[in-house]
Amino acid sequence: MCGITGYIGQQEVVPVLLGALEKLEYRGYDSAGIAVLDNGELLVRKAKGRLAVLAERLVGERIGGTLGIGHTRWATHGEPSDINSHPHTDVSGRIAVVHNGIIENYARLKEWLQARDVVFRSDTDTEVIVHLINYYYRSPPEPGVAPGGILAAVLAALKRLEGSYALAVVAGDFPDRLIAARKDSPLIVGLGKGENLIASDVPALLSYTREVYFLKDRELAVLYRDHVDLFTDQGERIHRAPSHVDWDVESAEKGGFAHFMLKEIHEQAKALADTLRPRLTDPTGAAGGAMDITFDEIKLDPSWATAPRVVMTACGTAWHAAMVGKYAFEHFARIPVEVDIASEYRYRNPVLQPQDMFIVISQSGETADTLAAMRLAKQGGMRILAITNVVGSTLSREADLVLYTWAGPEIAVASTKAFTTQLMCIYLLALKLGRLRSHLSDEEYRRYLAALTCIPTQVEGVLGKKDLIQRFASRQFNKNKVFFMGRQFDYAVSLESALKLKEISYTHSEAFAAGELKHGPIALVDENTLVVAIATQETLFDKIASNIREVTARGAASLVITWEGEGAFASIADEVFTIPKTEDSLSPLLSIIPAQLFAYYCAVQRGNDPDKPRNLAKSVTVE
Ligand code: AGP
Repeated sequence: MCGITGYIGQQEVVPVLLGALEKLEYRGYDSAGIAVLDNGELLVRKAKGRLAVLAERLVGERIGGTLGIGHTRWATHGEPSDINSHPHTDVSGRIAVVHNGIIENYARLKEWLQARDVVFRSDTDTEVIVHLINYYYRSPPEPGVAPGGILAAVLAALKRLEGSYALAVVAGDFPDRLIAARKDSPLIVGLGKGENLIASDVPALLSYTREVYFLKDRELAVLYRDHVDLFTDQGERIHRAPSHVDWDVESAEKGGFAHFMLKEIHEQAKALADTLRPRLTDPTGAAGGAMDITFDEIKLDPSWATAPRVVMTACGTAWHAAMVGKYAFEHFARIPVEVDIASEYRYRNPVLQPQDMFIVISQSGETADTLAAMRLAKQGGMRILAITNVVGSTLSREADLVLYTWAGPEIAVASTKAFTTQLMCIYLLALKLGRLRSHLSDEEYRRYLAALTCIPTQVEGVLGKKDLIQRFASRQFNKNKVFFMGRQFDYAVSLESALKLKEISYTHSEAFAAGELKHGPIALVDENTLVVAIATQETLFDKIASNIREVTARGAASLVITWEGEGAFASIADEVFTIPKTEDSLSPLLSIIPAQLFAYYCAVQRGNDPDKPRNLAKSVTVE
């Protein structure tokens, strides 16, 4: 997730852009940059690091001009660096682009452009956009492509893009306009008096106007100083009244949500789609080809596929993702898996076997214990595959292979979208290895991939029922003992569910494998206890139903999270929350959502700040 902005009007544009970028910096802070049209010359200034680094570089430099675009970056392709910073320009330096999103087919477009002698300077996916625009702006008209004109060139370029974008374009030949376009990434047009702006989010506009167009998918805006024209990406004009925004700045930064955590819970559908789609060939099946998993960013050579064992380590929520991974790799690829908490692994003198696949998971890529465990494995000659959300993090720089979760910045201390996108990466790896090891038939592989493509929409479906969870939390938030239980994948999700509740509501909650109930935990169950059973493994429904009866017989309140249409639990539990049916083995992608919401609403009911829970930090960079 990045922040983009743009301005055209009467004011000096540099301070306007820097002020807007400051309001957008929570969306990404790996680098920042601006492009300004000053007296016919397109000036680009950009720098790795936070916005302050760019602002520092601009001190004392006299840049005029009243038209420009700006960008603050959360890196997805190409690590944070000056050259990978936006804006990106065409070879002549007369067109500049800033972009938020992921161009899924950028590799193929890059090859196509390089075959036409286009020279690339960065490692980003974004750079293909500006070269495509330039190509269509300067190249002879091609069948179906309107010759000339910057808008026509942008429209022609957009036709080639697959993936998500919110982008802004300025061109030296057109000092009277700024072009913006959006598909799957937010973009808002602010309407001022003698000036107009664009931004990824409302906070950047509120100093200038509350009259806005929320651009819809596949829409463009051409901003002039005195008016704005709207178009479809087919070039047809659009007419509609602007909207009025009455948010204050703080709630605007949270997208209208009360807390970043709730916003990030709701971002999971898009984060999962962003993490999944670029790794699926023919994700819509439109081309009729068989869908497959491709990792452009890593080369899974055969030695990884024949690894005799997978070793996974992480901390906290990431460790819970690794626990899901244990079941996933054994289920889809029949690979034995060892999972350990990083702080245990690093000190237990583990058996290090170089031929094993070592997978390390960390949202921040900076967790001390996780880094130490990885370095120990590396010293033992093991190859390291990292799953992380931060491009350029220590973990990403020291691992041999890196799979990124494209969740965007996770601001809330309690991890939500990072967790589910970690799961998505794990599932893709496990399925790919299952395929490479010929454990999955064509039909099974296709069935699982098809199920994965439905997950983002199904996540939206679960979120659509959040009021049920909110009401349940309003009845249960005072419980001082909350147990989560489940079997197999559901046990791993129970671990994560319990952590969510304890870390933000300060309720003593714990998780156990449901089969362990009679080996001790049941001694704690009484009428002051809430037990949440996660039940998605259909072959074990009888077992979990018995466990539910055992706890309710001792006075516990009970909630069951299970499949829509499943009637096995309605008569034995106080409440049943259902989630859309998918493969049992993929259920964690959905069953964790109600647990995240439950933890959030309990914390709010208890008067806590879910974004900043006591005693906790977002990244534990010390032991
Ligand atoms: C999760 O909600 C917590 N914030 C914490 O357990 C976190 O998952 C853990 O510290 C690991 O962080 P990492 O993923 O950045 O390594």
